[in-house]
Amino acid sequence: MPIENGYEKFKKDVFTLTKIDLNAYKEKQMKRRIDTLIGKNKCKSYDEYVALIKNDKERFEEFVNFLTINVSEFYRNPEQWELLDKDVFPKLIEKFGNNIKIWSAACSTGDEPYSLVMALSRHLPLEKIKIIATDIDKQVIAKAKVGLYSAKSIANVPADLKKKYFTEIGGSYQISDSIKQRVEFKEHNLLKDSYPTGCHLIVCRNVLIYFTEEAKEEVYKKFNAALVNDGVLFIGSTEQIMNYKEIGYDRAQSFFFIKNNK
Ligand SMILES: C[S@@+](CC[C@H](N)C(=O)[O-])C[C@H]1O[C@@H](n2cnc3c(N)ncnc32)[C@H](O)[C@@H]1O
Repeated sequence: MPIENGYEKFKKDVFTLTKIDLNAYKEKQMKRRIDTLIGKNKCKSYDEYVALIKNDKERFEEFVNFLTINVSEFYRNPEQWELLDKDVFPKLIEKFGNNIKIWSAACSTGDEPYSLVMALSRHLPLEKIKIIATDIDKQVIAKAKVGLYSAKSIANVPADLKKKYFTEIGGSYQISDSIKQRVEFKEHNLLKDSYPTGCHLIVCRNVLIYFTEEAKEEVYKKFNAALVNDGVLFIGSTEQIMNYKEIGYDRAQSFFFIKNNK
């Protein structure tokens, strides 16, 4: 049941509690999801729900987790990873050499940054690889650090890499330490925190779809500033950057954009 009153105040309360600014997320979709969750928690108003999560750490974490929508999988949209392997990585290495700075922004449970390490291991020795992986949600980062995945989430990993870098444990798959060691996880809010600089590749997929157009544009501009000239931005397969030319990108392939030198 939709909750009629109090969403404006609720957004302020959520910001105070979590530092997540719900104004930057598409409102209709977000409110519908939140109202459903509140209903499941048997609360009748936003205030009642805020009081609940303030006093119950588990419910609070459930809320943040729910809010941030963190489904992921290894090699999500494999055809894009094929392009990364055949085209993007070789060109980046040719242009910038072996020390490539890669940022997996909104990395969720680690599937994406670990996929990046494995994919790049076809081109560089593991010890040369370093991925910065960030997410707003503590819980997903904790899960990423554990590195235990279902068969379904690793289904798209190429067979040789699966064999080399995963060990089956009671129906789940543990990623090897040699891959884990190449990723540095950090908490980071795309809407609030400062961005790294000098990146050669930024991968940010399946998160900006939840943001308003203004918030999206702001983030794409900040990514532009975070990239070196000719650096690449890799976005999700349902996403687009409408005004990419205006904000400093050329389009390389459908979901890969290059920072232009202008
Ligand atoms: C659907 S997952 C995408 C994961 C991965 N990039 C992929 O494509 O499989 C979206 C992730 O964005 C994160 N997220 C949501 N809002 C964020 C924000 N403001 N700053 C950083 N991460 C955010 C969520 O916590 C979640 O882990």
